Amino acid sequence: MYKLFFNLVFKRMDPEQAHYMAFRWIRLAARTPVLRTFLAAWLAPRHKELRTEALGLRMHGPFGLAAGFDKNAVAIDGMSMLGFDHIEIGTVTARAQPGNPKKRLFRLVPDRALINRMGFNNEGSAAVAARLAARTPVFNTVVGVNIGKTKVVPEEEAVADYVASTERLARHADYLVVNVSSPNTPGLRNLQATESLRPLLTAVREAADRVVTGRRVPLLVKIAPDLADEDVDAVADLALELGLDGIIATNTTIAREGLGLKSSPALVKETGGLSGAPVKERSLEVLRRLYARVGDRLVLVGVGGVENAEDAWQRILAGATLVQGYSAFIYEGPFYARAIHKGLAARLANSPYATLAEAVGAENRKAAL
Ligand SMILES: Cc1cc2nc3c(=O)[nH]c(=O)nc-3n(C[C@H](O)[C@H](O)[C@H](O)COP(=O)(O)O)c2cc1C
Repeated sequence: MYKLFFNLVFKRMDPEQAHYMAFRWIRLAARTPVLRTFLAAWLAPRHKELRTEALGLRMHGPFGLAAGFDKNAVAIDGMSMLGFDHIEIGTVTARAQPGNPKKRLFRLVPDRALINRMGFNNEGSAAVAARLAARTPVFNTVVGVNIGKTKVVPEEEAVADYVASTERLARHADYLVVNVSSPNTPGLRNLQATESLRPLLTAVREAADRVVTGRRVPLLVKIAPDLADEDVDAVADLALELGLDGIIATNTTIAREGLGLKSSPALVKETGGLSGAPVKERSLEVLRRLYARVGDRLVLVGVGGVENAEDAWQRILAGATLVQGYSAFIYEGPFYARAIHKGLAARLANSPYATLAEAVGAENRKAAL
């Protein structure tokens, strides 16, 4: 039914307009108690066996919403109502910024992909922190806060920019993510080099510890699929050295491999980050590499081209404790998370593993036998 609706309505609309329209409906439904209760019961049924503990947090399941969908933390309950077990808001930057000029979001429907060059359009960390502080949650959802660099701030001043966001947002974050991997802020991805990443992550850790007392806010870093394998290893080693809690793999790619000859060449040529089905293979490969390097010492979050339960299951077997999705939600619609939960529960029941936790990284352990 959603596919028909998508083809008749959303597909004919500008993708960003369609996003805001769907967003308004989701927020409206979440503010209407009867509808909210009904939709949550339908779309977010709980499977006891999928309960997940990660980063010292308890979640109903392993599957969450990737960053970029709810940049300003306005739809946390709405997305939770649709079955996402954790919601990563952001990317939030220290200062409010409009992002790149429109058009900046493109659908590659035959390839089940998106290209975006949004450029961190967001209201800024002060406004988002105020919204989070004022929030009365309806659903008890884990909220991750993803932070990035303000575009006009030069690379040399990036640390102070991230620290300013950390100071405002860390107390509202169940976990904090340092995003150094979006392709749409010039120079951002250079921060993935360990000589830049070490002082950045150290400063964010210190700032979080300074402003949040009484608990330790888990800190993760989100990396690009375009990193060379040795650089993936270097980030993994650095994360261990600095006592980080996890790594999110991966963001969108600037590569255009994996695109069939299906989408129009003009669309494929749009600059920005490619997400969805074409990034699946590389995201999984990066995850496998990370797990081989760090094993259970870090929480790995698998994201990139997760379209269905089988994809989510493959990420878990490859070493992901948590899995996220964004692009496939656009194509699959409101039943996306529900289908993943149902399929994961079935796969777990048919597997040799008693719990999801046991399945995490099982593929790697098997290979080692
Ligand atoms: C329109 C759009 C905006 C995004 N914005 C962000 C962002 O602000 N911060 C971030 O860390 N990732 C952002 N992402 C990347 C996603 O979080 C995710 O890492 C990536 O899309 C791969 O997952 P997917 O194939 O399930 O979409 C964005 C993705 C899309 C499609």
